[in-house]
Amino acid sequence: MNKSISIISIIIILCLVTPSLSKQHACNKNDEKTLLKIKKSLGDPDILASWKKTLDCCEWNNVACDVQNSGRVTELTISSSNISGQIPEEIGDLPYLETLVFRDLKNLNGEIPLAITKLTRLTQLIISKTHISGPVPSFLSKLTNLYNLDLSFNKLTGSIPESLGGFTGHVPNIYLSHNQLSGNVPKSLGYLNFSIIDFSSNHLTGDLSMFFGANKTIQIADFSRNNFQFDISELEYPWSLASLDLSHNKIYGSLPETLTEVFLAYFNVSYNRLCGKIPQGGDLQYFDKSCYVHNRCLCGSPLPPCS
Ligand SMILES: *[C@@H]1O[C@H](CO)[C@@H](O)[C@H](O)[C@H]1NC(C)=O
Ligand SMILES: *[C@@H]1O[C@H](CO)[C@@H](O)[C@H](O)[C@H]1NC(C)=O
Ligand SMILES: *[C@@H]1O[C@H](CO)[C@@H](O)[C@H](O)[C@H]1NC(C)=O
Ligand SMILES: *[C@@H]1O[C@H](CO)[C@@H](O)[C@H](O)[C@H]1NC(C)=O
Repeated sequence: MNKSISIISIIIILCLVTPSLSKQHACNKNDEKTLLKIKKSLGDPDILASWKKTLDCCEWNNVACDVQNSGRVTELTISSSNISGQIPEEIGDLPYLETLVFRDLKNLNGEIPLAITKLTRLTQLIISKTHISGPVPSFLSKLTNLYNLDLSFNKLTGSIPESLGGFTGHVPNIYLSHNQLSGNVPKSLGYLNFSIIDFSSNHLTGDLSMFFGANKTIQIADFSRNNFQFDISELEYPWSLASLDLSHNKIYGSLPETLTEVFLAYFNVSYNRLCGKIPQGGDLQYFDKSCYVHNRCLCGSPLPPCS
């Protein structure tokens, strides 16, 4: 009895003396072990010098933990370094990760590993400005909590997988610009309500009708610098659309009158094969000439009058 009372009072005193420490969880041992494996697999690079057992792994650079609740590693960000090698499979053994970033690593190569599908809590997956190659993996749609999928500025090839139209939870913003993707955009992407899509600077072909239509929700779309080829006069512009870049493609037809009813902050159709008069009204005359130049026979303000 006495003993337990004194233990309780010691605990109470400790809590009073160290109020903040008492709430903090130490780094989870499994996560520490996994991070050390990742460090080894990346060749023990200088950028991870703070990853050593003498320091709690929640204190390591490039790592963040949920110290209030679990001490589990929730963020791993490795950027701007010349580490070389592949994304380690062990990454899949950090089950509480919400943010995973590999950015600005020009010697990071290989493919995006399947192990990433184990990270079901991920809200942000950013692999950008690396030498990662291979396909955009079809398994990414299993990450049902993703808000941001950024795979821009890599060496990805092949076509956009059908499965990206199969996200069952949140619909993420998707950034695939500056890769070497080819083929048509799958119709399945039209089943979801995307907000932001950036497919610019690839070799994509076909049409984009899956993102357009009265009940679609796309807000910001960059499809510039591809080989899209379709009749623009057939597109129905959703009210949600705020920014659309279609420049540097092979799009033909004329701009429809309905475009004057959409509230656009940005619109660029330069370097295509458009023809006919630019509809007068709405926001269309506020955009610079450079948003309309280099088409087959587009005319009218802000371009010179039609003859
Ligand atoms: C790459 O990193 C190594 C050490 O990790 C360093 O010695 C070397 O100078 C770096 N090279 C470049 C080009 O930055
Ligand atoms: C997409 O949004 C529209 C209206 O904004 C809604 O009617 C439709 O149910 C949504 N579709 C899905 C798959 O969430
Ligand atoms: C969009 O509207 C069309 C026709 O009104 C309808 O057939 C279709 O199911 C709707 N799509 C979504 C995703 O709500
Ligand atoms: C429109 O796109 C073209 C081609 O990419 C570019 O040169 C031009 O600066 C853009 N205009 C604006 C206002 O962004």
